[in-house]
Amino acid sequence: MILVTGCAGFIGSNFIHTWLASQDEPVVNLDKLTYAGNLENLSSLSGDPRHIFVQGDIGDKDLVSGLLAKYKPRSVLNFAAESHVDRSILGPGEFIQTNVVGTFNLLEAVRAYWNELPAEGDSLTKSNFRFLHVSTDEVYGTLAPNDPPFAETNPYEPNSPYAASKASSDHLVRAWHHTYGLPVLTTNCSNNYGPYHFPEKLIPLVILNALDGKPLPIYGDGQQVRDWLFVQDHCRAIMRVLEAGRVGETYNIGGWNEMANIDVVKTICSRLDVLRPRTDGRKYAEQITFVKDRPGHDRRYAIDARKIEKELGWKPQETFESGIQKTVQWYLDNPEWVKGVTSGEYRKWLGRQYG
Ligand code: NAD
Ligand code: TYD
Repeated sequence: MILVTGCAGFIGSNFIHTWLASQDEPVVNLDKLTYAGNLENLSSLSGDPRHIFVQGDIGDKDLVSGLLAKYKPRSVLNFAAESHVDRSILGPGEFIQTNVVGTFNLLEAVRAYWNELPAEGDSLTKSNFRFLHVSTDEVYGTLAPNDPPFAETNPYEPNSPYAASKASSDHLVRAWHHTYGLPVLTTNCSNNYGPYHFPEKLIPLVILNALDGKPLPIYGDGQQVRDWLFVQDHCRAIMRVLEAGRVGETYNIGGWNEMANIDVVKTICSRLDVLRPRTDGRKYAEQITFVKDRPGHDRRYAIDARKIEKELGWKPQETFESGIQKTVQWYLDNPEWVKGVTSGEYRKWLGRQYG
């Protein structure tokens, strides 16, 4: 049994699908169901006893302690977070609450549980328990064009409220290992994309706006670079780190897939031109619209993934071309999911612009 948090969201729901596709070990999924939590992402598991869903907050120590006592998980994986940079700029409070205070409370509940585990034995012990914290490359700040990609040894230089809140949570996790001995693992991943991605983030936003005949907003000059990773590759990496990662270590996860935003958007447009041509015979790229830049916009992220590749033998299976083809096709094949997700909170978000 493992306890995962935030797994009604994008990466977490993909993680549960990836996990249960290869094994039967059950998963307890603690999720607050914020605007980003969507049980539709897990509807194919409805009635499956291997997935136990609990609605609640990682910051609710009593609730978490109760779940740990009841299910006795061998590991806790923390995906739960406020995850969107733009929202963190417009309202940082929730980011501090969940990503910092929430992670602190979760760590405290887990530490109390872990303290009571036997030191030795045949099954769950203090030394084989793991707390795996899922984090981001954004904690490292921004890169100039010729800088080497982020390695695990890079200093933390977070620039957005989101990045700062995730950096804080990483530091808490690190301290709980060094001070209390909690067996932790931290992963710092680059930008993910794939199925079940909430359409506030660039790739799903562009796919759905394109299909709706709406503008495709590009912040600033569109030359900001991100290092894209297909979400299932990220999930497989997390499973590998949980299985074989060295306690107390951090692992950077990325796909060696740096692309400027404008090129990402143009690639999506040309995929859609083939898969679902516009009815007026024009190209989707005509919908591209340059808009006011995000404040403090980081110019470039890139991950040096050699540590996880060498130590743990993980490699991404998808290229950007194969991953984006699957992603665009998934959005075309899942109109009901799209209808559900675009009917509520997304609408409120759509009108927002900087300036
Ligand atoms: P998401 O916003 O899609 O999902 C977050 C989930 O956490 C939602 O289901 C939400 O309901 C839940 N949640 C939020 N606050 C909670 C709380 N207080 N208690 C319990 N549940 C809560 O995010 P995502 O893109 O799936 O990201 C998952 C994790 O991966 C985050 O920690 C994020 O920082 C990290 N990450 C994301 C990316 C990316 O590209 N999306 C890249 C690297 C790291
Ligand atoms: P996003 O998907 O929000 O992820 P992150 O900010 O965590 O990297 O944004 C990816 C990149 O795309 C980022 O450089 C901001 C840019 N962007 C746009 O140009 N237009 C948009 O509408 C959005 C949401 C993002």
